[in-house]
Amino acid sequence: MEVLNGISKDAILVTYASRSGSTAEVAEVIAYEIGQYCGRVDVAPVQRVRDLRRYWAVILGSPVRHARWLPEAIAFLSAQRSTLRLRLMGVFQLCGSLCQDTPQNRQAAQQAYEEIRRTFPEFRPLEVGLFAGKVGDEIFHHPAGVGQPELKVGDWRDWEAIREWGRKMGKILFGMCQPSQPVRLPPEKL
Ligand SMILES: Cc1cc2nc3c(=O)[nH]c(=O)nc-3n(C[C@H](O)[C@H](O)[C@H](O)COP(=O)(O)O)c2cc1C
Repeated sequence: MEVLNGISKDAILVTYASRSGSTAEVAEVIAYEIGQYCGRVDVAPVQRVRDLRRYWAVILGSPVRHARWLPEAIAFLSAQRSTLRLRLMGVFQLCGSLCQDTPQNRQAAQQAYEEIRRTFPEFRPLEVGLFAGKVGDEIFHHPAGVGQPELKVGDWRDWEAIREWGRKMGKILFGMCQPSQPVRLPPEKL
């Protein structure tokens, strides 16, 4: 286990990419739940985040579109690569396909995250949350969306599952931010 000294335990950042707003709303709820355990939690879209110095933990969320994370979330990971590998991380992903939580749909959701794992193997999130998203009428205006029969218009977000994940993250981070505890990266298990 790598021990990271010198990182201030000042604040936690929940950052997200979102096109239609549903991931942004999830980020707010997760930040609220983490804040119940850990004190200061900031929330911001990835495009607005420049400096991660004050954050000892970063939670990143993206929806899946056309089977991939949004490019701005990937750009954030690339731009902050060297800093993020020294931060505790959590990751959440919204997928319309999880409107029905079948093994096939869960596998499709996992696959979108797999690409991120392969591209950024140095990131080892403490937790990865895969949640059903919200699919609006706009799906009919996107040619690529029409070819995905598993996408059904509706708000499929399971707020209790989302809150539960936020609480879990909060408890884990709380355990790591005690004054006597140095910030530690998790073992390479994810
Ligand atoms: C054009 C388009 C393509 C999408 N493609 C996928 C997809 O490939 N797989 C999936 O699970 N969900 C897909 N979705 C559903 C989104 O993941 C879901 O609507 C998500 O909650 C949107 O997040 P946002 O509101 O933060 O933009 C798609 C939605 C749109 C509008």
